[in-house]
Amino acid sequence: MYRTHTNGELRIENVNEKTTLSGWIQKIRNLGGMTFIDLRDRYGVTQLVFDMETNNELCEKARKLGREYVIQATGTVAERSNKNKNMATGDIEIIVNELNILNPSEIPPFTIEDETDGGEEIRMRYRYLDLRRNPIKNALFLRHKMSLEVRKYLDANLFIETETPVLIKSTPEGARDFVVPSRMHKGQFYALPQSPQVFKQLLMVSGFDRYYQIVKCFRDEDFRADRQPEFTQIDCEMSFVNQEDIYSMFEGMAKQLFKTFKNIDFTEPFPRMTYQEAMETYGNDKPDLRFGMKFTEITQIAQNKGFKVFDEAEYVGGICAENCSEYTRKQLDALTDFVKKPQIGATGLIYVKCNLDGTYKSSVDKFFTPDDLKLWAETMKAKAGDLILILAGKKKKTLSALSELRLEMGTILGLRQKDKYAPLWVVDFPLLEWDEENQRYHAMHHPFTSPKTEDLHLLETHPGEIRAQAYDFVINGNEIGGGSIRIHNSELQQKMFNLLGFTPEEANNQFGFLMNAFKFGAPPHGGIAFGLDRLVTLFHGSDSIRDVIAFPKNNAGRDVMIDSPSILSPEQLKELNLKVID
Ligand code: AMO
Repeated sequence: MYRTHTNGELRIENVNEKTTLSGWIQKIRNLGGMTFIDLRDRYGVTQLVFDMETNNELCEKARKLGREYVIQATGTVAERSNKNKNMATGDIEIIVNELNILNPSEIPPFTIEDETDGGEEIRMRYRYLDLRRNPIKNALFLRHKMSLEVRKYLDANLFIETETPVLIKSTPEGARDFVVPSRMHKGQFYALPQSPQVFKQLLMVSGFDRYYQIVKCFRDEDFRADRQPEFTQIDCEMSFVNQEDIYSMFEGMAKQLFKTFKNIDFTEPFPRMTYQEAMETYGNDKPDLRFGMKFTEITQIAQNKGFKVFDEAEYVGGICAENCSEYTRKQLDALTDFVKKPQIGATGLIYVKCNLDGTYKSSVDKFFTPDDLKLWAETMKAKAGDLILILAGKKKKTLSALSELRLEMGTILGLRQKDKYAPLWVVDFPLLEWDEENQRYHAMHHPFTSPKTEDLHLLETHPGEIRAQAYDFVINGNEIGGGSIRIHNSELQQKMFNLLGFTPEEANNQFGFLMNAFKFGAPPHGGIAFGLDRLVTLFHGSDSIRDVIAFPKNNAGRDVMIDSPSILSPEQLKELNLKVID
């Protein structure tokens, strides 16, 4: 028997019991004639004691061990004279009388402590060691528990977990596919699913009624901090539902998770905001509602006073930062530098200080009278003591820059606390998005999303104005989930493919199976998928999605531990009928 207890188990009640423990050496300390070893496993840490006076030979053996050795120790549980209140096992220690080295360890390349000295690259290369550290280990345990809670909720609500294939067919919509060459069918390729979208719809046609799957999805996208090329969805679909049914079912799931893991009771329905309102007042479709600072447009009242930047702008608007009127030159310069960063793209920043004495001070005093500034302040509901920050330019770009500025101010002012959660639904997304470069429409969500019935008449004339029955679930500025009510009529689906520029032949080649299925009694249906990695990241309070994935890719899409992607041998390439060109 390797152990009688785990290293997180023994308490004062166990004093005088014999015990055998196994685990990794976290730390060795020699103090006078005593040697102390902190022995670690998944469950915790227990202190082992070796006394030179009572057992010199064993103590000598213990002193020769190193960090991360795997050992087995047998001894007696004793009450500690020097108790450690920060450790679950801190009241006791083990007086060891037998010690086995199960496996020695080389010196680890970084310290395996909560606060490590290892940089990201080295920790990823030795991820199995990184996973021994509490912050990472705990994130994965949370992930396990959250998946379990999700399964419990969905099972209780009659959802059936069904696996769908991983080797599927490449389609031109959405992100780029990862593809897999077929050996047996030379020159042909499978694609890895970006999501099980069409399969879950087919399961509705099959009459499964409620499907879910905690499933890996694959997308060959550009890197972002909250993206991984392979990630996990809680993917769900339901039959005979409208949007309200979906909101109530999945608010239920989110509320259960908040209650179980954060002890937060959301008693009210989550707020809903249209896509248009989100874009106009927060500059993006995933607003962080932990704080206000909504945008106010002042284009009308700011133009025609001789200030060219405003006069030539399509949009002038700003935010009001409370109690910041005493910002220094240096602070304002830092904000200006921030908005001028290439990725944000503003040309400059205009400020108005609403001084406590009722006067105004702005960077454009030359062009505007105190009455002008007062009018802006009133329009923006700014009080004495507030600071107004204004951007101007092309509308889309300015809203987006203002969004970044708002988030930056939120961070600076400490308004984005990690333990505060502001969930909401963003609804009424446009059905289509115009692609300037390729002069065509793309489906904003995916081609299976149903238009809003009241907008159907715009299909032939103003397709760009059609709103979709599509929704995103957002928490604290993160897109946590997205879904839609689907088209379940093969004619409408065909029209949608036309709009997206597919010829009938192309549509038939790519999605003929789906349109056929719709001819055999497809029920009205809809669904949603949550990003499990993002959800766990948020609940764990991590900054990176990588912290909650056991073996993530780095930000160049590489697995530096197994060194992938890698080249294939000439034999493999030949077998696959592939040639690599420079
Ligand atoms: P969507 O593309 O919105 O919808 O994806 C659903 C959710 O998955 C998460 N997500 C990601 N997480 C990490 N890395 C990525 N690269 C990544 N991409 C997406 C997000 C997102 O909200 N089939 C539809 C769902 C449906 O219509 O039911 C879909 O995949 O949290």
